[in-house]
Amino acid sequence: MVSLKTVQQSNAIISHLPSGLVGLFIGATSGIGQSALQHFAQHASSPRIYTIARPPSVAAHETLLASLRQSNPNGSYTLITADVSLVSEIDKVVEAITHNETKLGVLFMSAGFMAFEGRKDTRKGLDPSITTRYYARLRAVQELLPLLNNPAAQSPRVVSVLAGGIEGPLHERDLDLRDLRDPEN
Ligand SMILES: NC(=O)c1ccc[n+]([C@@H]2O[C@H](COP(=O)([O-])OP(=O)(O)OC[C@H]3O[C@@H](n4cnc5c(N)ncnc54)[C@H](OP(=O)(O)O)[C@@H]3O)[C@@H](O)[C@H]2O)c1
Repeated sequence: MVSLKTVQQSNAIISHLPSGLVGLFIGATSGIGQSALQHFAQHASSPRIYTIARPPSVAAHETLLASLRQSNPNGSYTLITADVSLVSEIDKVVEAITHNETKLGVLFMSAGFMAFEGRKDTRKGLDPSITTRYYARLRAVQELLPLLNNPAAQSPRVVSVLAGGIEGPLHERDLDLRDLRDPEN
């Protein structure tokens, strides 16, 4: 595992990056995403931060953003309300960002949840849990490529937090994971 000191040294480098970095955080109302958001906001010079929250998490996330505003008042912090278990909500997020920005330096995606009740289809016929961790993230990257590829973004980063180290085999006959039986048995 990477040492805490290495992580802290890496985070400190953010303060030497060009001013005005634009970051989008999807899944930062708690957990890994929230910590990444806090450290990015703490170190970046005049960052322009966009972060999304589902309706029930909006109030608590506004409180967090208010504390970030206090600790780094030169930054701008914009909350976009969206539920990314629907791919169309990503399109809404992308529209809001492209309305204001021409470049994107950091796309940090950690939204996800464990589904305990088996597969449920959204109105688009996709499983919400898989959509949150896969389809929505891929859509975000695809639609934000023009901003990420803008030379002004300099050295953009896309981070997708999943479950590194516990990958399993790819089931090519059931790519959309409709078969609930354990393929190993
Ligand atoms: N932490 C671990 O040990 C671990 C292990 C393996 C894999 N992972 C994966 O790593 C990722 C991050 O983990 P974490 O521990 O940071 O998770 P977490 O604390 O549960 O945070 C998940 C984030 O995703 C958001 N989210 C969930 N569904 C959403 C939706 N439909 N629309 C918008 N936002 C949604 C949550 O927002 P709300 O506030 O609205 O709920 C929250 O901000 C997840 O994909 C998780 O499956 C984590």
